[in-house]
Amino acid sequence: MRVLIEPDEAAVARTAANAVAPLVRHATCNLGVATGSSPVPTYRELARRCASGELNFSGVHVFLLDEYAGLPQQHPQSYFSTIRRDFTTAVGIPDDHIHGPDGYAENVFEEAAQYDRHLTEVGGIDVQILGIGRNGHIGFNEPMSSLASRTHVAVLTNQTRQDNSRFFAAIDDVPRRAITQGLATISEARSIVLIATGPAKSSALAAAIEGPLSARCPASVLQLHPNVTIIADEEAAQDLEFADYYRQRSAH
Ligand code: F6R
Repeated sequence: MRVLIEPDEAAVARTAANAVAPLVRHATCNLGVATGSSPVPTYRELARRCASGELNFSGVHVFLLDEYAGLPQQHPQSYFSTIRRDFTTAVGIPDDHIHGPDGYAENVFEEAAQYDRHLTEVGGIDVQILGIGRNGHIGFNEPMSSLASRTHVAVLTNQTRQDNSRFFAAIDDVPRRAITQGLATISEARSIVLIATGPAKSSALAAAIEGPLSARCPASVLQLHPNVTIIADEEAAQDLEFADYYRQRSAH
């Protein structure tokens, strides 16, 4: 794992955009996207580079990491709507280049399996952007999800529903289930960029990078991936025992 520690959120966004940009420049790019707060400054930085003519997203297809079950695509808090608002509209990616499971499908289990097949059919993800939950989840793979999981219907923990309730009028409005790429599915991305900012992520980040490989911390599965870059600000990095060593390695 490459671990890059940056002074603040703005520097994290620039470094993450630098990691993604070379792949966006290819004729075609399958870009895996997380929603939530962590990647938003990176999406803004990519949009800034697009506006200045530095980057062009015409060959990019985006693939959602997850989607709430029970919300129609047009719902303002569906991840389809969220990624349009936070990213794709600003970089001119058309809606038919946004791929994701339909959380409103009649059979969400079949929809999850179909999305997993779709990811394989399109040739897989070139670069996957991830955030990390306070409990170490990636996508909606909560603690004790199988490390070998494929795209599936996941039950959200109370903590995750509480954390995400900031986007809804009331906690009861937060869906209880989601369709999420599984940990094995995420691990098939050719490269992965995980973004962590703020003190609330520090213990999960330390467990992911330095803890044992364990379903207790789903993000620890990334230790097995050959091409992962973790970009953290100082606050998210504060519990890393080997922080000095990561700094030393990235300077050489
Ligand atoms: C969102 C997702 C989640 C978030 C995580 C962190 O698509 O898959 O795993 O990345 O919950 O969320 P924020 O960035 O809002 O703290």
